[in-house]
Parts: sequence; C-alpha cells; structure tokens
Amino acid sequence: MPPSAGTSLKPVKKMPAPKTLPKIGASNLTRDLDLSQDELLALLDLTQQVKAHPARFSKALAGRYLSLLFEKPSLRTRFTFELAIKQLGGDAVLSVGPIGDREPLRDVARNLDRWTNCIVARTFSQTTIDDLAHWASIPVINALSDRYHPCQALADVFTLQEKFGDLRGLKLAFIGDGNNVANSLMLSALRLGMNFAIATPAGYEPDPEIVTQAKALAAIAGAELLITNDPAQATRGAHAVYTDVWASMGQEHEKEQRRAHFAPFQVNGALWQQHAGPETIFLHCLPAKRGEEVTDEVIESQQSAVFDQAENRLHVQKALLLMLIS
Ligand code: CP
Ligand code: NVA
Repeated sequence: MPPSAGTSLKPVKKMPAPKTLPKIGASNLTRDLDLSQDELLALLDLTQQVKAHPARFSKALAGRYLSLLFEKPSLRTRFTFELAIKQLGGDAVLSVGPIGDREPLRDVARNLDRWTNCIVARTFSQTTIDDLAHWASIPVINALSDRYHPCQALADVFTLQEKFGDLRGLKLAFIGDGNNVANSLMLSALRLGMNFAIATPAGYEPDPEIVTQAKALAAIAGAELLITNDPAQATRGAHAVYTDVWASMGQEHEKEQRRAHFAPFQVNGALWQQHAGPETIFLHCLPAKRGEEVTDEVIESQQSAVFDQAENRLHVQKALLLMLIS
C-alpha cells in the first residue's frame, strides 16, 4: 500500500555490524588522518589477525561489492583491492579512465552507491576523492591521489611493526621527493611514535600544511621530525630507509628537470655503506626506477623488504574493508 499523504517515512535500517570488528568513525579513508589514533591501532591489530587466519574472514564480506575507479595505472593497488574483497567473499567492478568526464562526478558517486558498498578511487587530484566522499553515501577509500597514499602508509607501518615490533623510538628516513607517499608515511609514522627524517632537494619538501599537521602529531607522540636537504643526515641511525620515484604519475613532463635535481638523492651502495647500519631495512612503495632513485645493489639486497610491503597491501586492505563495510 502506498504511504498516504502526511505519513512520515522511516529511514532504512542499516545491517548491524558483527560485534567483534572495530569500525571507522569517519566512514571514509580520503586521507590518513580520517583514521583516529585508536582506529589506526585497531586496524593494525586486525591486519595481524587477517594475515594469520585468512580463512576465518573468507565469508565476512559476502554480498559486498567494491567500485574500483582508476584514473592512473596500478599493479599493486588494483590487484590487492580486487583480491582483498574476493578473499573476503565479495567482489569488485573495475573502471579505468577519467572520473567525471562523461557525466558529473556527483552523478557517478550517486550511481555507484546504489549498486556497490564502497568506492576505491585512484585520482589525479585529491579534490576528486573529496568530492566522491561528499556525494556518495558509501565509504570512499583513497587509492592514491596527488596528495596522499594512505593505503600504502598503512601497509608500510604494518611491515615495520612486523620487522621491529614496537615502533616507538625507531627512526624512519625518507629520501627523495616530498610527495604523496612521503606525506602519508610521515603522518602515519609520527603518530605511532616513530622519528621521521625526510631529505629532499631544495624546493621539493613536503607541503607546509602537511608539515604543520606532522609537527603537531610528533609533539603529541613525543617523536622527532627532521626535514633536511642532506640524505646522509636523514639516513644516519635510521632503522628503515624509504624512497620513491622522483617524478610521480602526472609529473612525467618534469622528468628531466627532476632527474638533475634528485641525482644526489639516489639510495645507492655508497649512501648505504657510509650511513645505514647492518640492520637497516630498505623500503619502496614500488614501482621502482632502478638507476634513478635506487640502485639494484640496494633494492635487490637482503635488507630490502619491498615485496613484504607489497604483500602487506593485501592484508591491511582486507582489514580496512572489514572495518569500513562489514
Ligand atoms: N605502490 C603502489 O601503489 O603500486 P601501484 O601503483 O602499482 O598500485
Ligand atoms: N609517488 C608515486 C607512487 C606510486 C605508487 C606516484 O604517485 O606515482
């Protein structure tokens, strides 16, 4: 029977979440700080459980679907999100290409939320992620933008925790561009009590607004933040040394100019032998450009943990999906 005029319509009730899984208050991961400190710690704990006991979660997201939107290329993020949802009993639909070209982004968001349970988007601009989150009623996960790469940072801090245990007081050095990966890593590492040192060429430091946030997090956690133009200073005493490409996706036209500026920031045998320790590990989000930001000698060494990071993208994103859409 149709409702008569004046009948107040009641909102549809959401399915209750299983009591044992932690939830994310912000309902999105558009940027690292959408996760509270407690949610970040809960996510790392859940990642451990998911990695150790995958079968326990194999039906947890049955009937849930992801929209995967990629404006830029991807190997790791695309595979790990698709595998994550499938290993949790759900499925994904992939779209590659510009978002919001054929029809307004707000319409894209409001279509996808009628069919699927979560949008995972890799975009050129952070604004596109924020707009999707504004218009969609389902969670939106940033799968890399020009400004942040939160899923990468989650996998990285989880990898560091696996390698070293307690993160407080460890030193993480980032050598290279103050880019999306550096921003997310800096925010996540500092709030977990790691000391963070970043060495960039002059003019390629991280965004001042993000540095301000990082300083505040460092003060709360009692951690140190060093921003320098000296790779040796950043590397000395580091438990892990991280680098990333010198020209990110969307900056290809600056490649030649950047190559000249970044040459002294290569993570190579000389830097490693002179300034890293025997237990220091090497990290890279991948894809790597060997002979540019890193040499084969370092990335292929026994101290390299780059494929552990790549594997952990899967486990950490499974935990993230469980917290967001179960
Ligand atoms: N590290 C990372 O995000 O890799 P992809 O660009 O291959 O997804
Ligand atoms: N900074 C790189 C990371 C790739 C995973 C980029 O944005 O292209």
